[in-house]
Amino acid sequence: MGKLDGKVAIVTGAGGGLGRCHALGLAAEGAAVVVNDLGGARDGTGGGHSMADAVVAEIKAAGGRAVAQYGNVADAADAADLVKTAVDAFGRLDIVINNAGILRDRTFKKITHEEWDAVIAVHLRGTYLVTRAAWDVFMAQGEGGRIVNTSSTSGLIGNFGQTNYGAAKAGIAGFTRVLALEGMKYGITVNTLAPAAWTRMTEDLMPTEQAQPMAPEKVSPVVVWLCTEDAANVTGRQFCVGSNRITLLSWQVTPIGQHDPKAAPWTVDEVDAAMKASQANWPKLLRLSDV
Ligand code: NAI
Repeated sequence: MGKLDGKVAIVTGAGGGLGRCHALGLAAEGAAVVVNDLGGARDGTGGGHSMADAVVAEIKAAGGRAVAQYGNVADAADAADLVKTAVDAFGRLDIVINNAGILRDRTFKKITHEEWDAVIAVHLRGTYLVTRAAWDVFMAQGEGGRIVNTSSTSGLIGNFGQTNYGAAKAGIAGFTRVLALEGMKYGITVNTLAPAAWTRMTEDLMPTEQAQPMAPEKVSPVVVWLCTEDAANVTGRQFCVGSNRITLLSWQVTPIGQHDPKAAPWTVDEVDAAMKASQANWPKLLRLSDV
């Protein structure tokens, strides 16, 4: 008996890296999986069927159920077709893992509009489009659902040279927090994953010794758990996961000052005094090393 027997999942960008491991993990718990992947290069150029097909073959070889879909998540028709593929093949949809992603790293001084738009499109628009199509199915089924959206410490904390990627990933986290509120009355949970793993996306940023400790397989159990009944009351959360470590990342609220709301607006000098009086108590600016 798997924890996800009878469930149907979509994993975007599941032809390699983290998405492949999520798909294998979900299938191992009994979910039927639609393996989506455009099959292109790390920067999103190109495409092909071999990546998604290989993961479908792996799942089937292990006794699981899976079908491939080769659409571009940033394309509305492809995203709708992805959800339709799940329903046509397996009769329903319960789980969406928005994972597909690309990189176009560039310092802000040099970034082009094309590099900005391409990254925002795949991550933020792609997450929106697939979720939007899936939401209709969740509403029609009336049995809740599970959504895990992939953000990054680049968006939640900050990382040099990734304004496009960080903006998209912070957007995904904001999207997740709002959708979690809207999903509550329907039993739909929506959580954010900020993974850290040695994949083709990060292999030139990490030393090869990190390949084993940072294997993407060490992230997927948290994704699978979020899709189980055990996590039915977990929503709107941000989990940083990598190298067998799980960290919850939340906002901090630090009161700085409050005048009577009916009084005149603060003077700039009063603001200055309040800021200076409280600054020693402000939480430190988070760095990547903190998670
Ligand atoms: P990856 O490059 O191995 O996987 C991304 C997959 O998405 C690829 O298989 C690619 O073909 C697919 N893809 C790209 N554009 C697509 C599109 N428009 N439609 C459908 N599929 C598309 O990289 P990795 O590391 O597995 O990344 C997975 C997710 O995790 C991404 O969202 C990434 O931004 C995020 N992430 C990864 C981190 C890491 O340490 N590896 C750190 C933080 C976030």
